[in-house]
Amino acid sequence: MLLHLKPEQVEIGMFVDGFDGRWIDHPFWRSRFLIETADQLARIREAEVTAVIVDRGRSRMEPGASEEAFPVERRTAVPSGMTPPYRGVERRRAMTFAPPPNDRAIRPATYAQERRRAERIIAKSRRAVIDLFESARLGRAVDAQKIAPLAQAVGDSIARHSRAMINLVRLKQKDEYTYLHSVAVCALMINFARHLKLDEAEVQQLGVAGLLHDVGKVAIADDVLLKPGKLTVRERASVEGHPEAGHAFLVQSPDIPAAALEICLRHHEKMDGTGYPGGLAGEELSLYARMGAICDVYDAVTSDRPYKAAWTPCEALTAMQSWSGHFDPPLLDRFADSLGIFPIGTLVTLSTGMLGIVAGSAGQNGEVVVVRVFFDCDLLAECPPFDCEFAPTAREPRIVGRASHKFWRFDDWPALVARVLAAVPTADVAP
Ligand SMILES: [Fe+2]
Ligand SMILES: [Fe+2]
Repeated sequence: MLLHLKPEQVEIGMFVDGFDGRWIDHPFWRSRFLIETADQLARIREAEVTAVIVDRGRSRMEPGASEEAFPVERRTAVPSGMTPPYRGVERRRAMTFAPPPNDRAIRPATYAQERRRAERIIAKSRRAVIDLFESARLGRAVDAQKIAPLAQAVGDSIARHSRAMINLVRLKQKDEYTYLHSVAVCALMINFARHLKLDEAEVQQLGVAGLLHDVGKVAIADDVLLKPGKLTVRERASVEGHPEAGHAFLVQSPDIPAAALEICLRHHEKMDGTGYPGGLAGEELSLYARMGAICDVYDAVTSDRPYKAAWTPCEALTAMQSWSGHFDPPLLDRFADSLGIFPIGTLVTLSTGMLGIVAGSAGQNGEVVVVRVFFDCDLLAECPPFDCEFAPTAREPRIVGRASHKFWRFDDWPALVARVLAAVPTADVAP
């Protein structure tokens, strides 16, 4: 018998068959399980669901406690004559994540509002990725039906506010890297794909690709995966086998999008052909593979790792731009544009009608971009240089985007960058 109970009526020993409400509002990746711990109970009671569907027949209450826990006046029993079809409908409703239709309107949120929601989505996604990796270790196929709603939840968060999820998922602890890296790459891929104006169906598939791209790492021993020092030849071969291992695993799972298979296999290839596993170069690499390589490395270098501290976004993009042959340079520029963060030395236009050069980053987590302002577009003349800081939540003044030094006829551009960045900024000039 299925009973619909309020979250506060649920007890240890009850078998949960599903939840009423949106899947993202309950804190469990699995919808069917036995409540065995006080922690599980507390999480259910705090969940924002309207009802918990409990299977009384599968519950394991203490003798005598069952009648206490399931009093007649507290339950809504499934009508007896409807049991088989009703049960089926109920189960499907409880087990299906029911993502909203693609043409749904998503209301923008403030950074602070979305940050709270993003925290919950990240926590849920992290648990799902842990489950996914554990299943992969056991050789079980990936359930694409469970992965797609996660990518959609991440995509919806980015649609409500583009920076909350991306900023938050970067700040992972060292021991969370393996799982949260997949969530971070999912978020970066979705944000990047939307910036490139790809179809929304493609956007969602690329989000799934982000979640799945490193699933082959389950084949690598933990002491190798987390080793801070230099890898031996054999250890390196084990690490470099993860794209093929992941791809071989994913092709056996039904309904995995082609984009996810492609990115899983190709995210460690480089434009000059020195990557792995195929050593593909230039035009041999698809747009998806190039995007995957950029998002994967960006998240890796902006995260704390056992062998190095995180770089700020600005430092990361500056370094990635300097690695000749690794990435597709125009695509890397578009990626920076998608984040609104630019490498040091980039010429940018400000909403104040001034031009500046990105000088570095600031703020507790390095997400504030520091621009050295030096040129007035109205006067077509240089001004005394001063620094202006742009937080991710800044509305005005703001960075409008990158500008072309050729358009502005800064003929000796490298010399101008060196001169402006070496100058002592004026402290008391308003932007
Ligand atoms: Fe990888
Ligand atoms: Fe990765």
